[in-house]
Amino acid sequence: MAERVSLTVNGKRHQLDVEPRRLLVQVLREDLGLTGTHVGCDTSQCGACTVILDGAAVKSCTVLAVQADGSNVGTIEGLTPADGLHPIQQAFWEQHGLQCGFCTPGMIMTAADLLARNPDPTDGEIRHALTGNYCRCTGYQNIVAAIRTAADEIRTGAGAVPAEAEAGATSAVAAG
Ligand code: FES
Ligand code: FES
Repeated sequence: MAERVSLTVNGKRHQLDVEPRRLLVQVLREDLGLTGTHVGCDTSQCGACTVILDGAAVKSCTVLAVQADGSNVGTIEGLTPADGLHPIQQAFWEQHGLQCGFCTPGMIMTAADLLARNPDPTDGEIRHALTGNYCRCTGYQNIVAAIRTAADEIRTGAGAVPAEAEAGATSAVAAG
């Protein structure tokens, strides 16, 4: 039997009736149409489904939607400003941090979480943060370079973070 769940996603509140067995990633993609959050495995390993849940990066295939009741969720759609790219997205573009792009939303949400906690990470810290995110195209070198570039641009103010990007508890990125 469905349960009523309240989720604030990218700053917008939703009341949804969901079966207790359904995953947060399913509700995001199928009920809310937020298909930027990907499903890349059945084993909670790939990280393509990463979102920001109450200020921390989580794999949304490991969370039941009913567990997220009352929470704030940030997805790649909320990170993306209406008129351009978030500095992390821009850095992935400039540093060729993607090939097929399937892993990219998860990589970017993990990077947003890292930079919110650590605005100036070392390459080792970036690599450690990405241990839960797989890139089947194996473009890790450029992904690390992109996150390092984004960190530099956000810290120096070259990449201003638009207000929309703050939805879903990524505001510390803006402050960083
Ligand atoms: S789809 Fe969630 S970890 Fe792979
Ligand atoms: S860019 Fe293809 S899986 Fe990462």
